[in-house]
Amino acid sequence: MNRFDQRVAVITGAAGGIGRATARRLADEGATVVAVDLDEEAGKRVAEEVGGRFLRADVTDEAEVEELFATVRRTCGSVDVAFNNAGISPPEDDSILTTGLDAWRRVQEVNLTSVFLCCKYALPYMREQGRGSIVNTASFVATMGAATSQISYTASKGGVLALSRELGVQFAREGIRVNALSPGPVNTPLLRELFAKDPERAARRLVHVPLGRFAEAEEIAAAVAFLASDDASFITGSNFLVDGGISGA
Ligand code: NAI
Repeated sequence: MNRFDQRVAVITGAAGGIGRATARRLADEGATVVAVDLDEEAGKRVAEEVGGRFLRADVTDEAEVEELFATVRRTCGSVDVAFNNAGISPPEDDSILTTGLDAWRRVQEVNLTSVFLCCKYALPYMREQGRGSIVNTASFVATMGAATSQISYTASKGGVLALSRELGVQFAREGIRVNALSPGPVNTPLLRELFAKDPERAARRLVHVPLGRFAEAEEIAAAVAFLASDDASFITGSNFLVDGGISGA
């Protein structure tokens, strides 16, 4: 399949588990990939691996995000796909009873404000082109509630769902689709780091996955590729769940 021939895909959090798998998948399908991350070393490795380019940007910084999309437009010619995926896990004890305001704000900044900024600066180029597809990474916890004390994380991902729905509706008539993708637990550094702090949490989480395992990043990448491609031409404003059946159980 070459669904992304002649298309430029910007992927944030590209040095991480889901981002890297998606960079490989979209590049395999013909995309010119722009890998974006704070982690310069790992980000450059990913870009090299997929024959794309790396741009370092802090996606919580408005000036850097504005410059990022302007650079992509100027040097690659278009902004066809934006996969806004950078994120951080919640603080260790993310209960509403204990989470401090600074920790709460940090999670909102990285997980939600970054998506706001990336949409804000990708959309003008997509409008100019009269086409584009945005996929924002949310999480199954935004739909389900996780019962595991992660209030700041869950709320940030709920914001991603609402923002994606709103933009999907607002820009539908301009040929731009915006969807949220909600992974279930995925075997990536983010999840491994979380479970290393609390191994019992992994076992508890697994019980609730009807498919009986965590996702591999490649399975999320396949769903991103579908949503970002013309195969999903009638899908916008959706919350696309890739969760091993958790939300159906
Ligand atoms: P990861 O930790 O492997 O990768 C996240 C990447 O984002 C890292 O490379 C990190 O350097 C980058 N990043 C963090 N802050 C940044 C910033 N301010 N500017 C630029 N880059 C920044 O995480 P993973 O698992 O690949 O997660 C990707 C997304 O998927 C996140 O939004 C996460 O919340 C979400 N998610 C992950 C799940 C999982 O089980 N792994 C489940 C559901 C959602």
